[in-house]
Amino acid sequence: MSDEEAQSFPVQPVDPPADKPKPKRRGQVRRKKPSTDGESPHARNQKTNTQSASESVKQDSEKKENKNTTGPKQRRTGKPIGKLKSVDDQAHNVRDLATLKGKRPIVALTAYDAVLGRMVCDAGVDFILVGDSVGTTLLGHRTTIPVDMIDMVRHTAAVRRAQPNCLLVADLPFGEASLSFDRLLESARRLMQEGGADAVKIEGGRDVADDIEKLVATGIPVLGHIGLLPQTVKAIGGYRRFGGDRQEAEDLYTDAIALEEAGCFAVIAEMMEENVAKELARQILPPLIGIGSGAGCDGQILVTTDLLGYNLGKTPSFVKTYANLNQVIPKALSQYVSEVREGKFPS
Ligand code: KIV
Repeated sequence: MSDEEAQSFPVQPVDPPADKPKPKRRGQVRRKKPSTDGESPHARNQKTNTQSASESVKQDSEKKENKNTTGPKQRRTGKPIGKLKSVDDQAHNVRDLATLKGKRPIVALTAYDAVLGRMVCDAGVDFILVGDSVGTTLLGHRTTIPVDMIDMVRHTAAVRRAQPNCLLVADLPFGEASLSFDRLLESARRLMQEGGADAVKIEGGRDVADDIEKLVATGIPVLGHIGLLPQTVKAIGGYRRFGGDRQEAEDLYTDAIALEEAGCFAVIAEMMEENVAKELARQILPPLIGIGSGAGCDGQILVTTDLLGYNLGKTPSFVKTYANLNQVIPKALSQYVSEVREGKFPS
């Protein structure tokens, strides 16, 4: 991703108390009173779980995860590519992920093929996102808009073939959430059945919340995404930070609540003002996973090629590069070319 392109449930679901029905707040700005007892809303919410995702997602997720749990003792059968590593308390499913909120920062990365998928999982991430950033990072597009379902199914299936021992989420590409619910359901179905994803990610807030609620009710876990939405780059006129003024901060809040109520198991916050992201993380039950949104989020995700220094463009300023493959790879390739030309290889 170049600068130009740069862009809880508690452990056990608990029935809402009879005297506190879940409020329907879609489209309204909810204001919670700041905690007065020194306990964050999260901590209280994690104990009581009076709201948030619908019962159906809890039940459906449980059914699915009971079947698909890939923890160290219950790995998928089949021949793994190399030896699977296991990292302590790494999340393996959406429920594990939800329980991490308030305990330790959740960590996620993108991957687009089997090799990177295996490496990223073995490093100990809680989930892998097969992002539509594959378009800008690997496929040579200037934006994520040209990425389509063929790309997403192919790259998701490649990562799934690495048999990652963590949650695998796949992005719904541009347009798939806009045409009709049937189209969205069919695309989500393809990502899960053909690609092998455990969950899907959808960009948007209030505008997509109704459809997300219906997907969740059918047993499709959904990761929300608010703040900078790279798929809207043409509409917003470029990539920028969100939440800088009061109206935008309130809109983000309304979107985050709408996604919580729709049943998202977590929400990505991209390029958001740090104070806004921090407050949203305090206010919503699902984990808020930041990218370029500061340390106040419940977790962090980065585009893996960015942190590896493997790209053709500039790296966004919020990224820390942990390696410089832009130097390492050309050096190795030049050495190979020289050695063949000079008759040194094969020796
Ligand atoms: O496509 C992607 O990689 C993403 C991340 C930036 C969160 O959406």
